[in-house]
Amino acid sequence: MTISTTTIQIADDLEVPRLGFGTFQLTDQDAYDAVRVALDAGYRHIDTAQGYGNEAQVGQAIADSDVDRGEVFVTTKLKPSNAAASDVHTTTGHSLKDLGLDHVDLLLLHWPAEHVAPLEETLTAMTEVKDAGKTRAIGVSNFPSVMLARAFDLAPIVTDQVEHHPFLAVDPIETVLHERGGFLTAYSPLAQGEVADHDTLMEIGEAHGVSAAQVTLRWLLQKPATVAIPKSGTPERIRSNAEVFDFELTDDEMARIRGLDRGHRLIDPDGGPAWD
Ligand SMILES: NC(=O)c1ccc[n+]([C@@H]2O[C@H](COP(=O)([O-])OP(=O)(O)OC[C@H]3O[C@@H](n4cnc5c(N)ncnc54)[C@H](OP(=O)(O)O)[C@@H]3O)[C@@H](O)[C@H]2O)c1
Repeated sequence: MTISTTTIQIADDLEVPRLGFGTFQLTDQDAYDAVRVALDAGYRHIDTAQGYGNEAQVGQAIADSDVDRGEVFVTTKLKPSNAAASDVHTTTGHSLKDLGLDHVDLLLLHWPAEHVAPLEETLTAMTEVKDAGKTRAIGVSNFPSVMLARAFDLAPIVTDQVEHHPFLAVDPIETVLHERGGFLTAYSPLAQGEVADHDTLMEIGEAHGVSAAQVTLRWLLQKPATVAIPKSGTPERIRSNAEVFDFELTDDEMARIRGLDRGHRLIDPDGGPAWD
């Protein structure tokens, strides 16, 4: 992997933009409008999922934008209920049809789904989808560290997309990713908006003339091999969240933000994995 502040190169011909745009809870016209604004604002990585119900709007926004499809890194996620091999194949096809694309760049399993199919079956089918050219890379989401290591043993995965922000560290997952050469995708990177009025983050922001949200996103981009996918449905915030490439946090500021961890998990549904 070759890493810069803006991209992570995971193959000779595949770069992941480190700032992505999240689309959870954006539906219908709101999803379309937000993705159009995001592409205009410079985002080149869009995160959607079968479960978000917005693949068609996301795809239409990409098609209608002035940005070439080849410049946009598109991620979608398989619903856990689609983890059986035949459903992996069939529903990836449905996602591509809804998105209006012949391939996505990254296909993730949204949550562990061994109650539906053995992990090996799901990951083997996802690898076949990759080999067929329908996605350029595969990965997992919401996998704790031990399960993540198993996934690396079973298939050529590149990332684990998990909740990560200043109030929730994920050290065991980062250790596995580092050992196996994968990258972390930080979801809910703004702690669903909670970072915005945090005293320490605002104080650091004042020193750089930026907001607490911008400080948080910059912190993630200065960490090793980390991608951040903030969501906003507000045009000014979509734009300001992308203005994180013209200031730099000091080592001391990085450490202060790391010190804000309090195990504050926002997304922990019934039936979800046990976290380490
Ligand atoms: N794999 C998974 O299971 C999983 C789970 C959750 C999320 N995700 C992905 O990660 C993305 C981001 O996570 P998220 O949507 O949960 O949370 P987030 O990006 O941390 O925060 C989004 C919230 O913060 C607000 N916000 C955005 N920018 C702001 C700013 N500059 N100042 C103040 N508030 C701001 C937004 O409000 P407005 O919209 O009103 O601006 C929204 O309420 C999702 O959209 C999705 O793509 C994946």
